[in-house]
Amino acid sequence: MTNTNKNEQLEALHNLYKACKHCPLASLGRQQVVFGEGNPNAPLLFLGEGPGREEDKVGRPFIGRSGQLLRKTIAKIGLKPEDYYITNVVKCRPPNNRLPNKGEISPCTKLILKRELDIIQPKVICSLGSCATKVILEEKLIRMTDARKKIINKNGLSVKPVFHPAYILRNSKMRDMWILDLKQAFDLSKNS
Ligand code: URA
Repeated sequence: MTNTNKNEQLEALHNLYKACKHCPLASLGRQQVVFGEGNPNAPLLFLGEGPGREEDKVGRPFIGRSGQLLRKTIAKIGLKPEDYYITNVVKCRPPNNRLPNKGEISPCTKLILKRELDIIQPKVICSLGSCATKVILEEKLIRMTDARKKIINKNGLSVKPVFHPAYILRNSKMRDMWILDLKQAFDLSKNS
């Protein structure tokens, strides 16, 4: 599939759901549906949890405090914007940035994330935090301290779990280790 083709397909998907009302988040104060962005032809896809306040206001993923930390850090290790695609498990902001629940995650991933991944077909997914890691690995329980040490093969796709940037903002001692984990995801994608 060519790049233009993928962009066209993603645009069609976004048009279908830009006024989505398939889960309770539609009526819990979200301002807009926040879709993924980046290069759909890149082998690496970052997967977060859900939009926060800034993302909901502006309509782009990972542009608030934790997103800025992530974007700055991956730029430092050599990733250019065209090297990745970035998206979230749920596309609408949960109130007060709480974790999205099953009744929100199920419809959103079925209707949007699964189709997004079908179109993009990334080689490596770097899952940011336990919500994204659980969803992508279809596991009920994940300990990030263990999961981050692994690269998991899921139906031919490599999943590299790393801590969520919001966790690193609160635990700066973990930052150096996090950078190495992100670098591992990038290196994997270069060799895929
Ligand atoms: N945290 C996420 O998981 N996703 C965003 O888009 C922003 C913050």
